[in-house]
Amino acid sequence: MSIAIVTGGASGIGRAIATSLVARGDTVVVTDIDEAGARKVADRLNTLGRGKASAAALDVTDPGAVTGVYQGVRAEHGRLDLVFNNAGIAIGGLAEELTLDHWDRAIDINLKGVVHGVHAAYPIMLEQGAGHIVNTASLAGLVPMPVGIPYTATKHAVVGLSLGLRAEAAGRGVKVSVVCPSFVDTPLLANVNPGLPETPMSGDAKDDIAKASPPPLHRREAGPRRHARRAPQPGAHRRPHTRPRGLARRPPQPRPGGTGRPVRRRTHPRRQELSPASAGSAAPRVRSPRSRPGCSRASPAGTPWSWARP
Ligand SMILES: NC(=O)c1ccc[n+]([C@@H]2O[C@H](COP(=O)([O-])OP(=O)(O)OC[C@H]3O[C@@H](n4cnc5c(N)ncnc54)[C@H](O)[C@@H]3O)[C@@H](O)[C@H]2O)c1
Repeated sequence: MSIAIVTGGASGIGRAIATSLVARGDTVVVTDIDEAGARKVADRLNTLGRGKASAAALDVTDPGAVTGVYQGVRAEHGRLDLVFNNAGIAIGGLAEELTLDHWDRAIDINLKGVVHGVHAAYPIMLEQGAGHIVNTASLAGLVPMPVGIPYTATKHAVVGLSLGLRAEAAGRGVKVSVVCPSFVDTPLLANVNPGLPETPMSGDAKDDIAKASPPPLHRREAGPRRHARRAPQPGAHRRPHTRPRGLARRPPQPRPGGTGRPVRRRTHPRRQELSPASAGSAAPRVRSPRSRPGCSRASPAGTPWSWARP
């Protein structure tokens, strides 16, 4: 059973991660800037009867506090197996609507919050020779999402940080992963630009996101199916007629020099003309050069099998 820390664990994706870990029997420290929320989650998880949860107040923008919590967990449990650097906020607005405060908050929480978590956890895990750091980025860390470029920029940075560290940590016993979700229906989407100057995107952006997004898969599936499968019809086992127009089926040909039993001609007509077999019953049967012992491809021109060459 693993010892894990989740940041931003009081809500949304962090709470779901903590729940999954406790459900499989892990011991989880649920941390969040919202201490009451973290405690509520931990209390509920302790009723599941599997793993264990505890809560800790943690602002990921404070490097000393992050190191303190991570070292404290290691000291208490003797190890630190899993770290989820997940806390984050949403920033929305056109570039000209955003202030430097938007940029600073995005960088401080979404990027430096992850930096602080990595900086605190990685040395512990290197010393253990084991551990797994999982950073939450976003689909906006993979594709250039407009109308919130501080968010996009920080999530791209988290992807870069994670992939670079992953390469560095490979072979040293420490795993590094980065999670890039698309839109997930959590309180984050209803709390854009928290505590920051307002833009038209501030507050609840769910409607804007819904308008700009394709319908979710389950809704599309619930609608009429364009390629619905029809009920089997009598005779439906037969293959449909797919021959292109103008290409009539060739009638069965009599076997050359044979019994007169019709056979379907498979050889290209030109090849058949050239084939020694088509020269009549007197022509010798020709085996392919590779099937004749001692024969190579480089047969002298004019030998019976040279017909196949251009
Ligand atoms: N919801 C989405 O659509 C979505 C999509 C892609 C990525 N993400 C990312 O997933 C992560 C979790 O988001 P969520 O959707 O669960 O949001 P959420 O708002 O439900 O949860 C985020 C949590 O982070 C906490 N937090 C905020 N600032 C903090 C700080 N300074 N220190 C510590 N905790 C802090 C909040 O209190 C909150 O509990 C974020 O990094 C977010 O960018 C979310």
